Amino acid sequence: MTHVIRLEAVTKRYDAPGPTALDQVGLTVGEREAVAVRGPSGSGKSTLLDLIAGPDRPTSGDVTVAGVRLGGLSKTGLAKFRRRHIGMIFQFFNLLADRRTA
Ligand SMILES: Nc1ncnc2c1ncn2[C@@H]1O[C@H](COP(=O)(O)OP(=O)(O)OP(=O)(O)O)[C@@H](O)[C@H]1O
Ligand SMILES: [Mg+2]
Repeated sequence: MTHVIRLEAVTKRYDAPGPTALDQVGLTVGEREAVAVRGPSGSGKSTLLDLIAGPDRPTSGDVTVAGVRLGGLSKTGLAKFRRRHIGMIFQFFNLLADRRTA
């Protein structure tokens, strides 16, 4: 099966006190596979999604999405990758107030 998402030994430590947000996470998601990420508050769901969607980068490990190794992209390359491949609805929406219709 072709993997559309692949995480290898992904660790994320924020520059803040507290536990490691993600510790050596491995994950593969196949083409046309639907995946729900569940877990208690603070378990790292948003961190995981931010690393897959590209706004954030891991402390160590590799994230590959749609055949592109995100760690190999520049900031501009990552922005272009997001524009081409990623759709994201944020937990707190982040919608532009003047674009809302309701
Ligand atoms: N920007 C940040 N700076 C410092 N620590 C952070 C930051 N974002 C998340 N964390 C920490 O990383 C860990 C994982 O947080 P994350 O937001 O990924 O969890 P979550 O599963 O999405 O939680 P929730 O269900 O509340 O949305 C927590 O310990 C959190 O405090
Ligand atoms: Mg969250």
